[in-house]
Amino acid sequence: MTFDVTSHPEPTTEARRQQILADPGFGTNFTDHTAVIDWTQGAGWHGARVEPYGPITLDPAAAVLHYAQEIFEGMKAYRHANGGVHTFRPRENARRMNRSARRMAMPQLDEELFVQSLEALVGIDADWVPSGEGEALYLRPFMFSTEAFLGVRPAREFTYRVIASPAGNYFGGELKPVRIWVTRDFTRAAPGGTGDAKTGGNYAASLAAQAQATEKGCDQVLFLDPLHDNAIEELGGMNVFLVTADGRLITPELTGTILEGITRDSVIQLARDRGLQVEERRVTLDEWDRGVQDGTVTEVFACGTAAVITPIGELLDGDRTIASTGTGEVTQSIRAELLGIQTGTVADRHGWMHRLV
Ligand code: PLP
Ligand code: COI
Repeated sequence: MTFDVTSHPEPTTEARRQQILADPGFGTNFTDHTAVIDWTQGAGWHGARVEPYGPITLDPAAAVLHYAQEIFEGMKAYRHANGGVHTFRPRENARRMNRSARRMAMPQLDEELFVQSLEALVGIDADWVPSGEGEALYLRPFMFSTEAFLGVRPAREFTYRVIASPAGNYFGGELKPVRIWVTRDFTRAAPGGTGDAKTGGNYAASLAAQAQATEKGCDQVLFLDPLHDNAIEELGGMNVFLVTADGRLITPELTGTILEGITRDSVIQLARDRGLQVEERRVTLDEWDRGVQDGTVTEVFACGTAAVITPIGELLDGDRTIASTGTGEVTQSIRAELLGIQTGTVADRHGWMHRLV
């Protein structure tokens, strides 16, 4: 499928773009264009195009506004020294989006078309890719139901779009350990639910807990397994790893209630490449607490596309505080290797990078 391109009639000025790129922040500024493909039952995907970024007209009865048939992905594009713009494991994002689509009764998008949509958008907005350390162009593919119908059934019309936003550190400023709030009032997912789908409703359901975290002076929320008391699941938008003094990495196993992070999968690979043992299993808060106290757990970190790899500092669980392990060596070193592969300064031995432009 080819993308028809309509250039923005009044693109952002060079001066304004440079101002944004000098301090990109996260998720507040967007490039001049968006890639779009529509889907209608019977006709399938059609109307692939790149058009000026701008508001979307929706019927007030559009199903997404009522029943939240929506999914999204998050990935980044990096400028390499060769001048090219490359993204990380895009087919994994395409596959995950299709898994999310199946769970949410939405149409499948061909992996190749998903990758083409990124190429089409980044092709026209390549000047928006920042080149500072830890900076990238955040790509947000998403799909939602547009059909105007209030009956509760899978919609018959959808739109798929990609928007792009220059991004620096998700948590702002320099890399420093983040403070985490353990929610006991809310759970994120249950068996048979949508925890492993990247669907807006999961994030909506996490916001009350996130607001409590902010009130407690924390950056993020840790969700626990609703069935096995004290087993850790993930943060609102990141997976979690514990590192032990004897060189093991421990992360909650994928049981359908946590998102299968592509960063998580990559960290597991990089750790195994170094000869570190990786354990995917149930991990309890008590194991974390005890481990930090007796020195067997030496580092804890969170990982995801937006956050890359971020050390976890203090963990607040009601009246108990689990002490910070600080920014450890394994965390720093795996982070440097992963960022190096993504930005083109470390050999891409697993063939993870895909050149977009
Ligand atoms: N967990 C949740 C709930 C997320 O939203 C994300 C971010 O996408 C992740 C984990 C990490 O996934 P990835 O590494 O693919 O970005
Ligand atoms: C990502 O890391 O891409 C995410 O989607 C996390 C968050 C911004 C929702």
